[in-house]
Amino acid sequence: MIVKSTFFLLLFTQQTRSTFARTEGNHNVLFIIVDDLRHLSEENVNLTNIQKIRAGGVSFEHAYAQQALCAPSRNSLLTGRRPDSLRLYDFYSYWRDTAGNFTTIPQFFKENGYETYSLGKVFHPGQSSNYTDDYPHSWSHYPYHPQTEIYKYAAVCKDYFTNKLESNLVCPVNVKHQPGHSLPDLESLDYAINILKERLNNSKPYFLAVGFHKPHIPLKFPRKFLRKVPIGKVQPPRYPNMPKEMPLVAWHPWTDIRSRNDIKRLNISFPMGTMPKKWSLKIRQSYFAAATYIDALIGVLMSHVNMRKTIVVLTSDHVPLVFVAPELSPRIVHTPVELVDIFPTLAGLANLGQNIPKCNKEDKRQLCFEGKNLKPRMERYETRNYFTNNPEPIMEKYETRNYFTNNLRPRMAYKTAKHFAISQYPRPSKYPQRNSDKPRLKQIKIMGYSIRTKRYRYTAWVSFNNTSFTINWNKIYGLELYDHSIDPEESNNLYLVSKYKDIHRALSKLLRSHIDPKSSTN
Ligand SMILES: *[C@@H]1O[C@H](CO)[C@@H](O)[C@H](O)[C@H]1NC(C)=O
Ligand SMILES: *[C@@H]1O[C@H](CO)[C@@H](O)[C@H](O)[C@H]1NC(C)=O
Ligand SMILES: *[C@@H]1O[C@H](CO)[C@@H](O)[C@H](O)[C@H]1NC(C)=O
Ligand SMILES: *[C@@H]1O[C@H](CO)[C@@H](O)[C@H](O)[C@H]1NC(C)=O
Ligand SMILES: *[C@@H]1O[C@H](CO)[C@@H](O)[C@H](O)[C@H]1NC(C)=O
Ligand SMILES: *[C@@H]1O[C@H](CO)[C@@H](O)[C@H](O)[C@H]1NC(C)=O
Ligand SMILES: *[C@@H]1O[C@H](CO)[C@@H](O)[C@H](O)[C@H]1NC(C)=O
Repeated sequence: MIVKSTFFLLLFTQQTRSTFARTEGNHNVLFIIVDDLRHLSEENVNLTNIQKIRAGGVSFEHAYAQQALCAPSRNSLLTGRRPDSLRLYDFYSYWRDTAGNFTTIPQFFKENGYETYSLGKVFHPGQSSNYTDDYPHSWSHYPYHPQTEIYKYAAVCKDYFTNKLESNLVCPVNVKHQPGHSLPDLESLDYAINILKERLNNSKPYFLAVGFHKPHIPLKFPRKFLRKVPIGKVQPPRYPNMPKEMPLVAWHPWTDIRSRNDIKRLNISFPMGTMPKKWSLKIRQSYFAAATYIDALIGVLMSHVNMRKTIVVLTSDHVPLVFVAPELSPRIVHTPVELVDIFPTLAGLANLGQNIPKCNKEDKRQLCFEGKNLKPRMERYETRNYFTNNPEPIMEKYETRNYFTNNLRPRMAYKTAKHFAISQYPRPSKYPQRNSDKPRLKQIKIMGYSIRTKRYRYTAWVSFNNTSFTINWNKIYGLELYDHSIDPEESNNLYLVSKYKDIHRALSKLLRSHIDPKSSTN
């Protein structure tokens, strides 16, 4: 699964939107969630429809998922509670049974008079949403799943080496020859358009969630999209190898990718072997093409939306985040934000839920916000000038040093509003093994907690008790510190570099005070 995020830059905009703000009734909500879409630079691919949405709204370039794995990420963002509050780090528990009867975003809108719909992959299907995508709590209608979803693991990819149909990672297809003569996201799009048409004359507002399955693996998409990404133009990864000084506990051995037929054949040694360059390029090409395919579907979907009456949220379980609403002026925000912020922000944009309290992981109330409402902060956050593209100054960039030690001074705003994001990821062991990417709860022994500020990413891998859900900060399995001002791709762990000692100490303290307020006194 995909862990990071940052999104590239845009373009220009139409400032006149706000003059069309609707006065009567509530705005509709269109909630678009794309599976595993991450930071894609224009150098690699142009997602023109997504760029258009970003240019028309408030685009958060540094939005972070709370755990970069489908079920925990989706349950977290849809309830606005962190994985530690839901006690879900794998796929195998339903929060209403194990953690608390927490209200979800769609449930909240439903209870406020909206007609709510789920299409495609919104909740992760299966046990983590009680095998019903949390119906009936969240949805007015039984969630829609495309028929062709049943071919998800089927051998339908024409393989050039075996000349047979295989279950491959790289899988451009001719849609006409696919079982069911369609693909899940094409079916969901048709269904979404029908709902939008149906609701045209209906004064009751809707909350329509559309979950696209791609570009999650397998990379199965209409072959014609390969033409948009010629292989000769695909850039290889800049740092194909492990970051320098990275602790082994941090290594993600991509077990799922290795299990696909085309990749299995390459006999890449486990766990540290790297992808042959030729295959890196092929995989990247297909990932970009699959993203272009979804971008095209989003373009069609948006052409059916009445933007004067609708709030649009575009996000992924693992990255981009854009809000478009009639009263929002377009802007780009670089301050790190979290996907748990979506719930309070959407409620704010819809003028609902003004009195909902803030809370932490011990809080079992049905409705409280662990994230923050980004709406009042949108104006205050650091932005770029639309015309010159110049960033406003970032405080952390002006480095100052301790006169005596020559260390970098930690410029952290302890008391002010949060300007950082926190994420977590579990591990079963210190050394990578087959289940390191997706350990089950009972296998988890270590939790990696990360804090991302504008400039740094700091991670502590600490001992985690999977029965009491407690953390032992005295037992550390690895530490990481990356300085994005000089190393945006995180190729070099600076944890041991002495001039960063004060930064490391400050970030560690800040992280602990947010993860575990009780234990952070020393
Ligand atoms: C994307 O668009 C930009 C600007 O038009 C262009 O320079 C770039 O080559 C395009 N990227 C690709 C992969 O085609
Ligand atoms: C959970 O919350 C829902 C909605 O408020 C309520 O109808 C239901 O009775 C609650 N269930 C439990 C077990 O408290
Ligand atoms: C979960 O599903 C089971 C079986 O269908 C059902 O009995 C139970 O009420 C559901 N739980 C909730 C909280 O809706
Ligand atoms: C909506 O109302 C308009 C005008 O009354 C009508 O022409 C149109 O057919 C209606 N559409 C639907 C989907 O009912
Ligand atoms: C992978 O291993 C199998 C069985 O040992 C062998 O037949 C095959 O040639 C190997 N493939 C590559 C690409 O090395
Ligand atoms: C996690 O659970 C398993 C099975 O119950 C247990 O063997 C293991 O010791 C637990 N780990 C911790 C840190 O408690
Ligand atoms: C985990 O917590 C449980 C319950 O508090 C305790 O019984 C157990 O000994 C702990 N496990 C470890 C490995 O510390």
